[in-house]
Amino acid sequence: MKKISALFLMLVNATVLLAQQHNMSKTYQPPTDPLVQQKLHNWQDLKFGLFMHWGTYSQWGVVESWSICPEDEGWTQRKGPYGATYNGYVKAYENLQTTFNPTKFNPEKWVAAAKSAGMKYVVFTTKHHDGFSMFDTKQTDYKITSAKTPFSSNPRSNVTKEIFNAFRKENFLIGAYFSKPDWHSEDYWWPYFPPKDRNVNYDPAMHPEKWQKFKDFTYNQIGELMTDYGKVDILWLDGGWVRPKNTIDTTVDWQKGIKFNQDIDMAKIVGMARTKQPGLIVVDRTVTGEFENYTTPEQEVPAAPLDHPWETCITMGDSWSYVPNDHYKSASQIVQLLVKVVSRGGNLLLNIGPGPDGDWDPVAYSRLKEVSAWMGINGEGIYGSTSVAPYSSGNIYYTKAKNANAIYAFVLADKDGLKLDKTVALKVNNIKAVKKVTMLGAKQSLKYKLTGDDLVVTIPTAIQANPGQLAATLKITY
Ligand code: GLC
Repeated sequence: MKKISALFLMLVNATVLLAQQHNMSKTYQPPTDPLVQQKLHNWQDLKFGLFMHWGTYSQWGVVESWSICPEDEGWTQRKGPYGATYNGYVKAYENLQTTFNPTKFNPEKWVAAAKSAGMKYVVFTTKHHDGFSMFDTKQTDYKITSAKTPFSSNPRSNVTKEIFNAFRKENFLIGAYFSKPDWHSEDYWWPYFPPKDRNVNYDPAMHPEKWQKFKDFTYNQIGELMTDYGKVDILWLDGGWVRPKNTIDTTVDWQKGIKFNQDIDMAKIVGMARTKQPGLIVVDRTVTGEFENYTTPEQEVPAAPLDHPWETCITMGDSWSYVPNDHYKSASQIVQLLVKVVSRGGNLLLNIGPGPDGDWDPVAYSRLKEVSAWMGINGEGIYGSTSVAPYSSGNIYYTKAKNANAIYAFVLADKDGLKLDKTVALKVNNIKAVKKVTMLGAKQSLKYKLTGDDLVVTIPTAIQANPGQLAATLKITY
């Protein structure tokens, strides 16, 4: 029996690993710089961050960037009146710059909602694969502050700066998402050839001067972000196909298609970035090594804790970008995701895509408000916690306080809300040393007894049912 379940677990783990391969490195190299180690340590305690994908594409309510990528994937389809020809579509897409005018932009409103929901850091798309810069770069005119973009006349048009300042003021750590590939740059997709897929469309080895121009452009843009935007804590680099050829992992589907060496000289970029931003966390996503300071599974929660720092990014709706009437996850689903992620020792980076008017869908605010009420009572078991075996049993998830003798057991609600049984059996270690059990938000200590390996807690009738509650937290003090 034991053997069978061990085998089963191995299979489950293998399946989870396979699913993760897409956006997650298999190995990890810890940073050696003490300032980076320190920041990473602090960041791991924060647990809950806000991700925002925002660009001109929000006007069409379509996927971020990918509809101009000439690959035939589910997420690259061209829809709408311009979809018939590739070139016509790209022209119309890039022309979105001339109508982008998000006049309701008010990052303080976002900070207030995110802060109250218990989020502690923010990662914003300063530039996605389409190459449209959401900051005042001097390297290109394809940017929000160009005279071609109506919003450029707004005093807050340098939205990256405004967002970073507003969140930093409320003590959020600041993360700059930046796409290494740039599908607008003529030194990445050289107009001499048609683009074929997401990759560079010429061989950098045959045209080294062109590739050098692209490297300089990237270096300069990242340099601007590291110099003119105040303190930045995380450089979150997406587009893992821009990587040295010898790092390609051909067991990963999308890496098979990388034909050329796309070495962007990360050592030089990060050297410069850390001179300006000492201790900067760098996430060169999927490129295992010294510049991937944490790994990034996407839209999923690993089944077991990972042996290194990690963060999963998950959308609140179905999409990263703003889509009208997107299907937003319920507050209960969001809280459950957070609890599951934290029980596995990770961070949750939850994405909300701002709309073309510069604001979020009202549903996103109402979800965060519900999350806020829950975090106010239960956040104690989330922040600064570590994972603790057995991580979960049934619908109960565990965390351990780092600096106190306590374990937290989160009992998740089902779709009808929270209804606890008269007794709840907890799987915690060293049950003989338990001194007290309480429920966060309720005053009295709870009765408990030891039954075999279980700590069986009696739940008084008055706090058994709470349909509005998303998950109850039992605190076990040693
Ligand atoms: C996916 C999407 C990409 C997005 C990223 C965020 O890889 O394809 O557009 O930026 O997720 O993690």
